[in-house]
Amino acid sequence: MNREKLELIRRTRSMFGHITPFIPDFDAFTARGGDGFAAVQDTAAIIASTEKLIPPRYQKADATDERVLGWVDKVVSQAKPSRLSHVPYLRSGPSLLLLGPTGVGKTHQAYGALRRLSIIGIGCAPVAASITDVFAKMRPRPGIDSEAIFRSYANAPLAFIDDLGAAKATEWNEEVTYRLVNFRYEHRLSTIFTSNAPPKVLANRVGERVASRLTEMARRVPIKGVDRRLGGIT
Ligand SMILES: Nc1ncnc2c1ncn2[C@@H]1O[C@H](COP(=O)(O)OP(=O)(O)OP(=O)(O)O)[C@@H](O)[C@H]1O
Ligand SMILES: [Mg+2]
Repeated sequence: MNREKLELIRRTRSMFGHITPFIPDFDAFTARGGDGFAAVQDTAAIIASTEKLIPPRYQKADATDERVLGWVDKVVSQAKPSRLSHVPYLRSGPSLLLLGPTGVGKTHQAYGALRRLSIIGIGCAPVAASITDVFAKMRPRPGIDSEAIFRSYANAPLAFIDDLGAAKATEWNEEVTYRLVNFRYEHRLSTIFTSNAPPKVLANRVGERVASRLTEMARRVPIKGVDRRLGGIT
């Protein structure tokens, strides 16, 4: 059973050979008295869940911005090895707010950062969605448990919430955004937020109380450049 999982780890890591894994060699890890079997199981689960989360367009995305890489390092340093496998798991940690106009690569950097954490082998059970998808999934309708959906985004040790301030502001949208940001703020849960609102109008789009929390909890990273989509079909 572990052979398949080892193969998944090897195959995925070989595509990102420049990223240094936390446990690079499971045999050596076992020889040193670690539980290599459990470590393989946990690491394969981490890689598989992140690969499932990343949409096809960002299949090869890697984080390259040094401020984003600095954030990845901080997250790694705050993850604590689990008792059995010694694979590090994140409970709480720093956040990031990627700002910049359309098409400069915010979503690419964010998925790249999630991928880095998975290749390194950090368990953080990430969730990812555009805030507009969170609204759409939560919108009350028969058969939908809106609060369960809210909790899945609020409680995750690592969440990527894309496109803050992109949806039309309604009282309900503002309340969901506030509750989500406030929950993650209060519990010090690592979150990557992005927005293409210019910094001066972000507070208008998301509300003063959300903007205030973002300022305290997240490192602000302006991404500059041109709209990469204008380069043509990829
Ligand atoms: N560093 C990169 N290397 C190669 N391709 C990239 C890079 N960054 C972004 N791209 C590509 O450029 C396009 C736009 O990137 P992305 O979707 O991340 O932009 P964005 O800033 O999130 O835009 P928006 O504000 O509209 O959501 C995508 O096709 C993406 O795959
Ligand atoms: Mg985007």
